[in-house]
Amino acid sequence: MSRTRVGVLVSGRGSNLQALLDAARAPDFPAEIVVVLSNIPGVAALDRAAAAGVAGEVVPHRDFATRPAFEREVSALLEDHGVELVCQAGFMRVVTGGFVDRWRDRLLNIHPSLLPAFPGLDTHARALRAGVALHGCSVHFVRETVDEGPIVGQAAVPVLPGDDTEALAARVLAAEHRLYPLCLGLVASGRARVEGETVIYSGVTGAQGMLLNPAGL
Ligand code: GRF
Repeated sequence: MSRTRVGVLVSGRGSNLQALLDAARAPDFPAEIVVVLSNIPGVAALDRAAAAGVAGEVVPHRDFATRPAFEREVSALLEDHGVELVCQAGFMRVVTGGFVDRWRDRLLNIHPSLLPAFPGLDTHARALRAGVALHGCSVHFVRETVDEGPIVGQAAVPVLPGDDTEALAARVLAAEHRLYPLCLGLVASGRARVEGETVIYSGVTGAQGMLLNPAGL
């Protein structure tokens, strides 16, 4: 089986990267992580890549006069590593249309909310303020508008009485670590693909039942 060559873009802690690296250890996982690229030097995500024996690259965005110049270097390095599919995992740079076009339908992002609710930053605090009962995370193909694009998968978690942002973020993060490998596997194997501006699936089982919150008296 030939596995899809994946590059992961990071800026920090790299816990989602870790989930992808762990999933890709399974020989039957349809993707392999071939390079981890950070726009910030010295971040924990690069240590995780090194520990997994995966190449790390640093492209400090501050070294570039413009966003497109930074992105051209990122794309060139990804291509040097033979990358076919790119995953943004806690990558804190907004990408331009040029980068989106270059990696069209080959660029995934994970966002900590049930999109289209709460695009942007501080999603957990905003979810708490809005009083939603369900929150979660989304994996989507990247488009030029931030946190928009065909959704590959979502995971919902309940907002519980007494939650603060830390508690809610931790519950969502655990869901992210399950969702991202699942979605990467679907895209890498061709079982999820973009048609029009939505994702269509083949050979995929939907979740059973429903998540109801509050659950009862
Ligand atoms: C995650 O919550 C991700 O959804 C968001 O940034 C955070 C990155 O965390 N885009 P990590 O670096 O993967 O631990």
